[in-house]
Amino acid sequence: METKILEPTLENIKLAAEVIKEGGLVAFPTETVYGLGANALDEVAVKKVYEAKGRPSDNPMIVHIARASDIGQLTRMLSPDIVNLIDNFWPGPLTMIVKSKDTVPKVTRGGLPTVGVRLPDNEIARKLIEYSGLPIAAPSANISGRPSPTRVEDVIEDLDGKVDIILKGDDCRVGIESTVLDVSGDKLMILRPGLITADQLEAAVGKEVVYDPTLNIDPREMEAKGEEELIPKAPGMKYKHYAPKADMLIVEGQRDKVKNEVLRLKALNEGLGNKVGVLLFEEQQFIQAAHDFFAKLRDLDHQGVDMIIAGALTDVDGVGFAVMNRMLKSAGYNIVRV
Ligand code: TXA
Ligand code: MG
Repeated sequence: METKILEPTLENIKLAAEVIKEGGLVAFPTETVYGLGANALDEVAVKKVYEAKGRPSDNPMIVHIARASDIGQLTRMLSPDIVNLIDNFWPGPLTMIVKSKDTVPKVTRGGLPTVGVRLPDNEIARKLIEYSGLPIAAPSANISGRPSPTRVEDVIEDLDGKVDIILKGDDCRVGIESTVLDVSGDKLMILRPGLITADQLEAAVGKEVVYDPTLNIDPREMEAKGEEELIPKAPGMKYKHYAPKADMLIVEGQRDKVKNEVLRLKALNEGLGNKVGVLLFEEQQFIQAAHDFFAKLRDLDHQGVDMIIAGALTDVDGVGFAVMNRMLKSAGYNIVRV
């Protein structure tokens, strides 16, 4: 398939919206990461997204809307919490998991009774959704398992020849995917951490918001403890993810020791003839780390390193925890402690 890579002019956005209406695939920028969009209500179009990404079909998609009121197309009842969260965080990097209407095809939801909904804070994304007049299902615009794309060149690298249109945009402001919050049950639970943290959500709704207890824990550790029942509640969180081509190792511990150990291991491995990339972030600069994380992984791959040694973030807050979530998955929980 020939992919059109287009400047985000109004004319081109309208053209892309037509492609969505006709059941085609359009990659587009959002404030978090680039998305790969299709008509969320068209089973055939959604199946094409799974194929283009090489994504397991039990992993549900997030449905993107352009106006808060459009959530009514996807779910019936809006609880006071949902209304509150919409008022406080939309448009923005918060996905809410709500009970789904039957009009949302099962393929879009990965067979679940719920659906993820998000109103992105990006003009190009919102115009695309608005002109298509449809809710748009959009996972991150990467090949399944690869680092999420935060720059248009990352999207081109993964999806050129596999989608109809790639809309160009700026580098993504946030850099990690949206916070996924389950609001379909009694407890508000974060299934995927992001820029919007439990503390911020709690302040808005005035009640407890918990993290999925499986987050940032090595699945092998859970198994060893005989806790197989602890399965991540977001299906996407159980897959190997965000992985660079190189082998990756995380050094965890007290900050100064971490940096020293990263550099020691680098020298050691270079001595063995390996090309080694290093991933270290500024102390306490978690928003910056989120912004840079996936781009740095891809850059290291381009440099052709055999191995990436990363320093774990220390004294993390909610955003730092979200970055560590990505780092741990990228490295397949390959950690040394100092
Ligand atoms: O920031 C984002 O959310 C980006 C941009 C493009 O909007 N999209 C994104 O989509 O990250 P994706 O498909 O890569 O990740 C969606 C995550 C997966 O972990 C999936 O399992 C979870 O959300 N998810 C979606 N619908 C769900 C549902 N009904 N129940 C539980 N988890 C759900
Ligand atoms: Mg993804």
